[in-house]
Amino acid sequence: MSEDTAPAALGTPGAAPGQGGNVPIVRAEGLTKTHHGEGTPVHAVRGVDLTVQPGEFVAVTGPSGAGKSTLLHLIGGLERPDSGRLWLDGRRVDEYREARWAMLRRRSIGIVFQFFNLVSDLTVADNIELPALLAGASPRAARDSRAELLAELGLEGRERSMPGELSGGEQQRVALARALVNHPALLLADEPAGSLDSKGTREVLRLLSRFHQRGQTIVLVTHDARMASAADRVISFFDGRIADDATLGAGRRTAGGVSGVLELKE
Ligand SMILES: Nc1ncnc2c1ncn2[C@@H]1O[C@H](COP(=O)(O)OP(=O)(O)OP(=O)(O)O)[C@@H](O)[C@H]1O
Ligand SMILES: [Mg+2]
Repeated sequence: MSEDTAPAALGTPGAAPGQGGNVPIVRAEGLTKTHHGEGTPVHAVRGVDLTVQPGEFVAVTGPSGAGKSTLLHLIGGLERPDSGRLWLDGRRVDEYREARWAMLRRRSIGIVFQFFNLVSDLTVADNIELPALLAGASPRAARDSRAELLAELGLEGRERSMPGELSGGEQQRVALARALVNHPALLLADEPAGSLDSKGTREVLRLLSRFHQRGQTIVLVTHDARMASAADRVISFFDGRIADDATLGAGRRTAGGVSGVLELKE
């Protein structure tokens, strides 16, 4: 087994003291990323310093092309920075190679995208169980976790369905289950409701808020002000940089944060 199984690995939400303490889940210093496509190079991320504490729910908003997805990809190791440093739960990860990142993601980072990215020829059950099995869970444990999550997400009875037989909102809930099946320390979500109608959006928001209330750390990229307002903290991203970083008032959550979200009308 690799050292990724050692106690220093990213903990589960609410991990025991010593597995996190005050160590930020995410710490980035001077991250930069330039895309070299067909035309002129695009400086998508231009020197980002960011710290996310365990249990925080951070929304990243900003105009199209600001670099939000690129930033999220850097944090999840889907893209490598050109410069800067990145720590996840106190471990320096920016120099990890792909295999190591893959292992880290499998165990400790859940990722949800706009277009679900479910494996279309696997059943709902298999889509959710697969990451658990890949992370070393027994078939029985994977099954139990999958059943628990499907019940939680209101999808009992759909385990044998194929993704194509589900609505967009249902597929996104399956994608959320898949992302959460290994109890990741960090959930990264990139426009998770971007392709859904307002009912689907509310559902995703309600679920994210519920998992957050239980201690899940979430970094959410969204255009949607309603979704952003469910977070503890809203980062405005503009032209590859953090333009504003606002922690929403402590009273707000009790005053109407999560419960207010549940009451949002279309
Ligand atoms: N693989 C790539 N190759 C070339 N350019 C890219 C690539 N990915 C992103 N870009 C460019 O980098 C900039 C930032 O893109 P990014 O996807 O991070 O923005 P975004 O804030 O997520 O936008 P949106 O809100 O539209 O999703 C854009 O100008 C985009 O065209
Ligand atoms: Mg994007």
